[in-house]
Amino acid sequence: MTLPWDFRPIVGGRVALDLLRPDDLDALHAIQGDPEVCRYMLYEARSREKVAEVLERDAAHTRLAEPGDYVQPALRDASGALIGTMYLELRSADPDRTAEIGWLLAPTARGRGYATEAARLLLDLCFGEIGLHRVQAELDPRNDASVAMCIRLGMRHEGHFVEHMWLKDEWTDTGHYAILEREWAARA
Ligand SMILES: CC(C)(COP(=O)(O)OP(=O)(O)OC[C@H]1O[C@@H](n2cnc3c(N)ncnc32)[C@H](O)[C@@H]1OP(=O)(O)O)[C@@H](O)C(=O)NCCC(=O)NCCS
Repeated sequence: MTLPWDFRPIVGGRVALDLLRPDDLDALHAIQGDPEVCRYMLYEARSREKVAEVLERDAAHTRLAEPGDYVQPALRDASGALIGTMYLELRSADPDRTAEIGWLLAPTARGRGYATEAARLLLDLCFGEIGLHRVQAELDPRNDASVAMCIRLGMRHEGHFVEHMWLKDEWTDTGHYAILEREWAARA
């Protein structure tokens, strides 16, 4: 396993994973300030001030060195516009080598496979450069679009925790999905 691992921008067919920049504030606020976008996120829709704060914080997180470290790359379209963000958090290092993945896409950019393409770039890095054994995703099972993404990526539904979290004034379930390095390699 390669630790520390430093995130570097990477360009795919139609999307790029890039560093977050201060001038992403307007585009990021348009996404994270939208209650519909945040419906199944752990946080409520964010004010511009809050987005500015998390943008500055997350832009500085570019290295995975120990469990708990995360990177939150900007997801850009071919014009360079920010259309979302991806998330990768190291959960355990050697010997378990596990990480969690996540995604957030602007409503205007949905339905074209951009998030799936970005997730594939990230999984290639996870199982290639970083040398992870397992990548998992946790989501609200009512989040059909996110469940569909896990399935498109070949992630296995491994569990369903019932009402284990009190979130946004209601009991919330969590679905657990995962894929192993050998399973990702077999799909390539
Ligand atoms: C989850 C989320 C990223 C999924 O967005 P999405 O646009 O459905 O996902 P993709 O960008 O991969 O696009 C897939 C869709 O594009 C279609 N598509 C079109 N061209 C495609 C292509 N070349 N490749 C793949 N899919 C393509 C797919 O059929 C699919 O549409 P469908 O769901 O109607 O079948 C988005 O709904 C979101 O950001 N939600 C809010 C944040 C959130 O809840 N995040 C997850 C928290 S766990």
